[in-house]
Amino acid sequence: MTNPYPHLLAPLDLGFTQLRNRVLMGSMHIGLEDSPKNVGKLAEFYAERARGGAGLIVTGGFGINRSGWLLPLAGKLSTAGEAQRHKPITQAVHDEGGKIAVQLLHAGRYSYHPLSVSASRTKSPITPFTARAMTGREIVRTIGDYANSAVRAARPATTASRSWARRAI
Ligand SMILES: Cc1cc2nc3c(=O)[nH]c(=O)nc-3n(C[C@H](O)[C@H](O)[C@H](O)COP(=O)(O)O)c2cc1C
Repeated sequence: MTNPYPHLLAPLDLGFTQLRNRVLMGSMHIGLEDSPKNVGKLAEFYAERARGGAGLIVTGGFGINRSGWLLPLAGKLSTAGEAQRHKPITQAVHDEGGKIAVQLLHAGRYSYHPLSVSASRTKSPITPFTARAMTGREIVRTIGDYANSAVRAARPATTASRSWARRAI
């Protein structure tokens, strides 16, 4: 029988980085993201997947701001401290020869809290809350919050400011 996936285990050059193969672990939020106490466990969880051979791991979703977090006190990556706390996770995967991408998430109407916001006033089928429609300014601020988190994720050691991130979009 011929191998239907001849390139699966071949390296992939993405230009800015190289993957050792094309096996991608999809994003699965497992709850350890939501407490700084669990950073070590989360690092070990992903390191084990990298040891197993995954070329690229995508983390479970990390929030970009409070209104968009999945639930109150859910994991977020929008401050210098939060980016710094994330570093051991990235390092643990790199130490095993893998690569890891953080998923930045605004949960919109799926935010499980009464202050949830979305592009329009709408209720998700799986939460009891109806999201409030964001104003145009709030939408622009949300785009800026994505940029802020992306800058912090890419350069966790810097103290990128929100205003810098807004100028970048
Ligand atoms: C426990 C669990 C947590 C998940 N968390 C996320 C998440 O944080 N972000 C995301 O984009 N998808 C998340 N997903 C969706 C998965 O990435 C995947 O798309 C989904 O499970 C469909 O794939 P499957 O049919 O192979 O299960 C999650 C799925 C599961 C089962």
